[in-house]
Amino acid sequence: MRILLTGASGFIGRNLNAALIAAGHEVIAASRSTGVDFRQMLTVNDWLPHLSGIDAVINSVGIIGECGSQRFDVLHTHAPAALFRACEQAGVRRVLQISALGADASAFSPYHLSKKAADDCLRSLDLDWFVLRPSLIYGRGGGSAELFMRLAALPMIPVIGDGQQKLQPVHIGDVVATALHALVAPESRQTLDIVGTETISFADWLKKMREVQGRRPTPLLRVPFGIAMACARLGRYFHPILQPDNLRMLKAGYWADPAPVEKFLGRPLQCSAPPLFFADATTFGSAS
Ligand SMILES: NC(=O)c1ccc[n+]([C@@H]2O[C@H](COP(=O)([O-])OP(=O)(O)OC[C@H]3O[C@@H](n4cnc5c(N)ncnc54)[C@H](OP(=O)(O)O)[C@@H]3O)[C@@H](O)[C@H]2O)c1
Repeated sequence: MRILLTGASGFIGRNLNAALIAAGHEVIAASRSTGVDFRQMLTVNDWLPHLSGIDAVINSVGIIGECGSQRFDVLHTHAPAALFRACEQAGVRRVLQISALGADASAFSPYHLSKKAADDCLRSLDLDWFVLRPSLIYGRGGGSAELFMRLAALPMIPVIGDGQQKLQPVHIGDVVATALHALVAPESRQTLDIVGTETISFADWLKKMREVQGRRPTPLLRVPFGIAMACARLGRYFHPILQPDNLRMLKAGYWADPAPVEKFLGRPLQCSAPPLFFADATTFGSAS
């Protein structure tokens, strides 16, 4: 297949790109460095020239925090919606949208709401669509995964409150494998939560990340939620993930049943064995 991959330079996009090529697909990689800036791709006509000869589209563009003209509504909603409508017009039937766990009826943050608006648009169109909603993704080269690795390596491990917020981390290889299968699966028009099989607290996840780095156990530094929020207001100037809304989302916690995605893939998802923390999707073997 000839696939237009947006966000091809990102963590998910890079892994998708490599796995798609390894599986024999031709990838047209789109990102700002190849001249495709979502802030300027807001109409169907902007997208149509990019869809000539394309068999499928995967959208993996996204931001975790707003900065300058990088806004959630533009990047997560308006540009993808224009892309999806252009696909309908151009007859590119297979469209995969990388959304996020929590972009559902419970969404309250601008991040999730802007993702959900694009997902809703895609679901309303006459296309063979998939909305893929990963939980926290780990593996080599992930922005949030690397930040958490650094936190886990500190002399004391900082957690928010009691650190008992629930996570279902999923390996990048499982996310990529799901996307590869969604490209060819006959049963389209599905929304799939891609979540790991282990439910683990934020504190235990950071302890595990410390252990896989070969470091000795160390005590937790429990940061009250109010103080963490104040730090996030400053921290957002240093790392995009350090946003008050991201702490609120962590606190809210999201959970989904891994059984549907396992059934879709026809195999169990990976448990978080130490080598996976340093592996990308192709090392892991994601071809489906
Ligand atoms: N990583 C996770 O744990 C995780 C979990 C669930 C959902 N997600 C979602 O999956 C998506 C991708 O995540 P990721 O981890 O791969 O993020 P990432 O590494 O930050 O990659 C973001 C991608 O978006 C592109 N992008 C940003 N601004 C753009 C613009 N104005 N025009 C065109 N492209 C633009 C970037 O390209 P350039 O900057 O090179 O132009 C890059 O390719 C996001 O929507 C994220 O919310 C991620």
